[in-house]
Amino acid sequence: MNYFKWTIDGEIGTLEFDTPDSSVNILNSAALTELEQHLDEIALCSDIKALLITSAKKSIFIAGADIKEIDTITDPQEAIEKCNSGKQVINKLEQLPQTTVAVINGACLGGGYELSLACNYRVAGFAGCVKIGLPEVRLGILPGFGGCVRLPELIGISNALSVILPGKILDANRALRIGMVDRLFYDPILVDQAKIFARAILSKKEKVQRRRKTFITRLLEENPVGRSILFGQARKNVLKSTAGHYPAPLVALDTIKSVVGKPREEAFRLESEGFGKLGASEISKNLIHVFYLDERYKKKTWTEAKPSLTHVKKAGVVGAGVMGGGIAQLLAKNNVVCRIKDLNNQALALALKTARDVYRYLLKTRRMKKGQVEAQMSLISPTTTYDGFQNAEVVIEAVVERMNVKKQVFQELDELVQPSACLLTNTSSLSVTEMAECTNRPDKVCGFHFFNPVHRMPLLEIIVTEKTSEETLATAVAFARQLGKMAIVVKDKEGFIVNRILLPYMNEAAYLFEEGIDTKRLDNVVKRFGMPMGPLELADEVGIDVGHHVAQILEAAYGDRMRVPTILKDVYEAGTLGKKSGEGFYIYSGKQKKVSSKPRNMCKNATFTLDDDITRKRLIYVMINEASRCLEEGVVESAGTIDVGMIYGTGFPPFRGGLLRYADSVGAKQIVADLKEFQERFDQHRFEPSQLLRSMANTDGTFYSS
Ligand SMILES: NC(=O)c1ccc[n+]([C@@H]2O[C@H](COP(=O)([O-])OP(=O)(O)OC[C@H]3O[C@@H](n4cnc5c(N)ncnc54)[C@H](O)[C@@H]3O)[C@@H](O)[C@H]2O)c1
Repeated sequence: MNYFKWTIDGEIGTLEFDTPDSSVNILNSAALTELEQHLDEIALCSDIKALLITSAKKSIFIAGADIKEIDTITDPQEAIEKCNSGKQVINKLEQLPQTTVAVINGACLGGGYELSLACNYRVAGFAGCVKIGLPEVRLGILPGFGGCVRLPELIGISNALSVILPGKILDANRALRIGMVDRLFYDPILVDQAKIFARAILSKKEKVQRRRKTFITRLLEENPVGRSILFGQARKNVLKSTAGHYPAPLVALDTIKSVVGKPREEAFRLESEGFGKLGASEISKNLIHVFYLDERYKKKTWTEAKPSLTHVKKAGVVGAGVMGGGIAQLLAKNNVVCRIKDLNNQALALALKTARDVYRYLLKTRRMKKGQVEAQMSLISPTTTYDGFQNAEVVIEAVVERMNVKKQVFQELDELVQPSACLLTNTSSLSVTEMAECTNRPDKVCGFHFFNPVHRMPLLEIIVTEKTSEETLATAVAFARQLGKMAIVVKDKEGFIVNRILLPYMNEAAYLFEEGIDTKRLDNVVKRFGMPMGPLELADEVGIDVGHHVAQILEAAYGDRMRVPTILKDVYEAGTLGKKSGEGFYIYSGKQKKVSSKPRNMCKNATFTLDDDITRKRLIYVMINEASRCLEEGVVESAGTIDVGMIYGTGFPPFRGGLLRYADSVGAKQIVADLKEFQERFDQHRFEPSQLLRSMANTDGTFYSS
């Protein structure tokens, strides 16, 4: 008995959740068993008229059910049983004769919020750490401790769908607005206020008015025709946002649809059945794998050294192009004063516009207020000189991707910025070592590679050279996290990780196109696999000139296996640069796009079209092969780093668990056999299996075990 303790203060009982030797509360089997025993005792304790459920953990009420236990589920029946046993305990809470109040002081997610739903009332603090929601679908499952039944009852079907299907997590104010909590109190006196609240409820001095449904909501929710419209629309929305790759929101939707209006027992049975369909699925296991990666990499200590600077206050940015503007906005958003330099005012004006456009969107979606936006925009000051750079604690270089220009900028910076300042480069493919060498502080130089668009892409590659000091690495990691980015650390080898793995895939798409495969069909093969967009769409989005330039750099570095396809050169030379010029592989007009015939007409030998299966394998396997080379060469230390990079840097589908987790599911033997076949049929160099893949094929090894 050590997860919970309960105390009595007059007619108010308090059941406090305090998992021993842990900073979080999780509803695992042991905690649930113990909770059940306490609830049985409390049910018989007539002195208690109201029971508060509280947490002893700082900033956490209950983080959820135990994901480790969910991960071990191997068959649907086991999933149903797990669900039923948790539900049985939570139902006891609902059936207590006392008035019950969940006192939410922090994260209250998944099973934790489902527990609070079984209480009569929910009160929470205002603090930013209060996060409320049912994010189960993000792990490929659904709320199985009664959430699919109780949440629609509490806040209405439509609101419940809007929370459960996307796995939304709300802050305290939003949760109050939608009715997921009943009261918000000042955090330091939350428990005292909750007691006062409970006493007031008992003495009938206080009554909680649940939100009244609007006429339209009633029309939709309270008759079968309206409900069918509501569920139909919700299904369409889910399919639009998931492209049908994620079964959990659809099963959750069907479950909610089936439980509405059913007696409790039947509703709970249906919910457990829904959970049974998902709990043992491969997609859920993959999403749990990604969840663990995410948790690990958010905190990963890449070095034992301490950062020289734990919080950057002033930064400089050189180069006010697409990336410089985005980086300036990100800095301002994180309250870093930012001086941005370019050669001319026109570029600077564009960069400010880029930043403003991001803020405009945040304003439109009500994520920020006008005053906040203006305050943050005022942190960005443009300049055509290095004025003010003397005060910068770090400088991020984001000028054109030309080594001579970058070197010049590094020399200039080295002479004028304070000796302690780190110099970071946003280069996508050039040697960081070469840039570092033209300074007198190579130990304070590293790559700091953002992805486009900066405000949306979560990944940041930190590139260390042989000379980068551990302290600089620690500083760069801390800075990346200050900016809210997921950092991975890679060695200085052309293309680093993400671009180096992505380029063979982009090249392969161009080769397939040259061979005659239809533009849309090619893109659709990959989208069906789960990539957010097809490779030809991506080429247009990035810009054919940018792609071509990086492709040339990587061809120079890696030789024949990265030979730039002729079609890419031809499209580039024709000046059709993709979206920015209005035409590339597609023609763009407004929000519409249609296939362009120009690139097709440039292909001379477009004679055959492969089946989709081989197309997909060629595209994905060249990435796996290159990724295995990165591991072989020690550019990264583990398969996990590559999977984090590909998921957060390219949108590689999380439901596949990551590129190398996917490779493991196919098996090295199969991949090597296919690559060898492709070598014979298509190209000796591009498909030559790496040494690592071949040895894994011989020993039945996997990326995650080697
Ligand atoms: N565009 C992308 O998708 C992307 C993604 C990741 C990284 N990057 C990298 O970021 C860097 C910038 O890329 P971009 O797309 O923003 O380029 P861009 O061409 O849009 O902007 C580069 C800017 O640098 C300015 N510049 C050139 N020389 C300068 C100097 N000496 N001092 C100050 N400013 C100077 C130019 O006037 C221009 O405004 C490149 O290294 C690129 O490889 C680009």
